[in-house]
Amino acid sequence: MTAKDMASRIELRVGDITTLRVDAIVNAANESLLGGGGVDGAIHRAAGPDLLAECRTLDGCPTGQAKITPGYRLPAKYVIHTVGPVYHGGTEGETELLRSCHIEALRLAVEHDCRTVAFPAISCGVYGYPITEAARIALSAAAEHLRSEDVPEKITFVLFSQAAYAAFDAVRQD
Ligand code: APR
Repeated sequence: MTAKDMASRIELRVGDITTLRVDAIVNAANESLLGGGGVDGAIHRAAGPDLLAECRTLDGCPTGQAKITPGYRLPAKYVIHTVGPVYHGGTEGETELLRSCHIEALRLAVEHDCRTVAFPAISCGVYGYPITEAARIALSAAAEHLRSEDVPEKITFVLFSQAAYAAFDAVRQD
């Protein structure tokens, strides 16, 4: 696959991930999987109470790992819940854990034949990850996956602000 093909399979956009009609949206959850604020709160609000009921049966999720549920009232068919690292300066394995979130989420997307997948900027809110460094990790993990997999056909990073979009776009232009 040419670099051009790869680039066409990764899209950046500004928006609210809960509105996307894709096969799977990725949630930036915490290890309990029992909801929270930020994008986690938005996804649970939009999915409805059945999502929390399902998450209660999953027995949590370790940082860097991912679990999948239906999307319930969301336009997305699935929610892939992943738990990003809290940023402590980058010396406690945060890079590998954030990379793992993307690789594991995409592995579940392949297992469930999700042709379109949307990611938020995992760990870039409450968990304090510097967005430019997170963008480097996220975009390289996505490109690494797409080099060897036909699924998903498209990965969209949904940024919640123009500033976040600009940070991801600058990394992609590198
Ligand atoms: N759509 C897309 N992106 C969103 C949305 C949304 N509706 N709401 C927030 N975001 C963005 C934030 O602006 C940030 O860039 O998602 C990114 C991740 O921020 P958080 O949601 O705070 O997630 P994170 O930093 O990974 O912290 C996870 O926060 O909500 C709790 O339960 C969650 O404990 C966990 C922690």
